[in-house]
Amino acid sequence: MATTVRISVTVNGRTFQADCEPRKTLADFLRQDCGGTGVHLGCEHGVCGACTVLLNGRTVRSCCLLAVQADGAEITTIEGLATGGELHPMQRAFANNHGLQCGFCTPGMILTACELLADNPAPSDEEIREGISGNLCRCTGYHGIVNSIREVADQRAGK
Ligand code: FES
Ligand code: FES
Repeated sequence: MATTVRISVTVNGRTFQADCEPRKTLADFLRQDCGGTGVHLGCEHGVCGACTVLLNGRTVRSCCLLAVQADGAEITTIEGLATGGELHPMQRAFANNHGLQCGFCTPGMILTACELLADNPAPSDEEIREGISGNLCRCTGYHGIVNSIREVADQRAGK
């Protein structure tokens, strides 16, 4: 019988407690135990960024972390960005600028973009491209995604 470890993780403001096998990834925990199916799994070995979530405010690859490593942490998934039925400005911008496309990379891309603008509120387009370079998108050439992030940065700068 598998040994389990009791963990407690706050996901989008709601605390989940579970008896978790030590081998379970954070991505599987979020999808299977917390209902966070916006956490997408592409490569499952840290390359594509589709599984990116915020852990205590910083991006992590949830496929490369064990759920037990997140014990006590605060996690934000794509499901946690909208407030009061209103899309987060980054979600709205992706919709406005054809940044969504097939949507598979979108959750990780949007959370990465949020961290990018928190660290650098006025990035150049080159810095935006560098900031999202760890997230792979298989649809077209990133232009819509870059334009989406640009729109939010410009809005915040009052442009
Ligand atoms: S699924 Fe985690 S980086 Fe690709
Ligand atoms: S929008 Fe399709 S993979 Fe990025």
